[in-house]
Amino acid sequence: MAKRKGLPKMLRALSAAAIAAIAVAGVALAAGAAHHPEDHPFSFDSPVGNYDMGQVQRGFQVYQQVCAACHGMDNLAYRHLGEEGGPFAAYRVRDHETGEMTMQIGRPAHGGSFVAVTDNPWVRAIASEATITDIDPNSGQPADRPGRPSDHFRNPFPNEIAARASNGGAHPPDLSSITLARHGGADYIRSLLLGYDGEMQGTLYHNPYFPGGYIAMPPPLNPDVVLYTDGSPTTVEQYATDVTAFLQWAADPHMEQRKRTGLVVLGFLLALSALLYLAYKQVWRGESH
Ligand code: HEC
Repeated sequence: MAKRKGLPKMLRALSAAAIAAIAVAGVALAAGAAHHPEDHPFSFDSPVGNYDMGQVQRGFQVYQQVCAACHGMDNLAYRHLGEEGGPFAAYRVRDHETGEMTMQIGRPAHGGSFVAVTDNPWVRAIASEATITDIDPNSGQPADRPGRPSDHFRNPFPNEIAARASNGGAHPPDLSSITLARHGGADYIRSLLLGYDGEMQGTLYHNPYFPGGYIAMPPPLNPDVVLYTDGSPTTVEQYATDVTAFLQWAADPHMEQRKRTGLVVLGFLLALSALLYLAYKQVWRGESH
């Protein structure tokens, strides 16, 4: 009898201990775990969603004028910006009234021929703004020259040691594929850029989205630091959203093509299923089974 009474008591004690353990673990997790990123409805989120190329262009501008001071994007060359599916892809179109040929960014609704990247004036202008350190063909000494479309994005630091030395020991990671390299992807990057609350600990900035809660990157965005020509708001939130869209494009430039192919394959499979069903009906017509 004493044994029977003892069992529920032991169970109760055990469950109390379990609850206490869970509570302790929960508190520990809450202290160390980063905030869940805010879910932003990006145009590329859905299975058929595309990039908003105006947004990707603005995001490139933000990267160039703000982030490129500290972050490289080694996998990107200037020419990538002007390839088909890129934010500065150019097309020649004939004006219906004057018959004159003009060039525009982005594919026209109909017609238009793609402009080779080496002839793309926007890409050439962007590349030539960069100063690339190359070898002088005559002297063999390092020498600066304007960038060309075939050059890779200029890295702000010659190597990681220099990058750390300029950033209080922290290394600004390469941003070529950062949205793929971080859990939470684009939503994480956007939340991180918007997550500063002004609190500091030594030289580190409090940011609840960053694992550990304190990041060495100073808040990079301020209102009105980048001038937009398309009338979009020049707010920190707009900058963060646009630069994130650019980083997503950079990490996955062939997404639109892939989704299109996926839809074609899906359509083909549906048509095939319908045909197979009709054939099955035909073959078994009049048979009792
Ligand atoms: C003044 C230099 C500086 C500028 C400007 C800057 N960053 Fe950073 N960034 C850093 C440093 C340093 C780190 C590494 C932080 C760390 O490890 O604590 C970092 C880290 C990051 C990370 C990685 C966070 C992670 O999860 O590891 C992302 C993403 C990022 N920066 C995006 C940007 C974007 C986008 C911009 C432009 C809007 C930008 N940064 C501008 C210095 C900079």
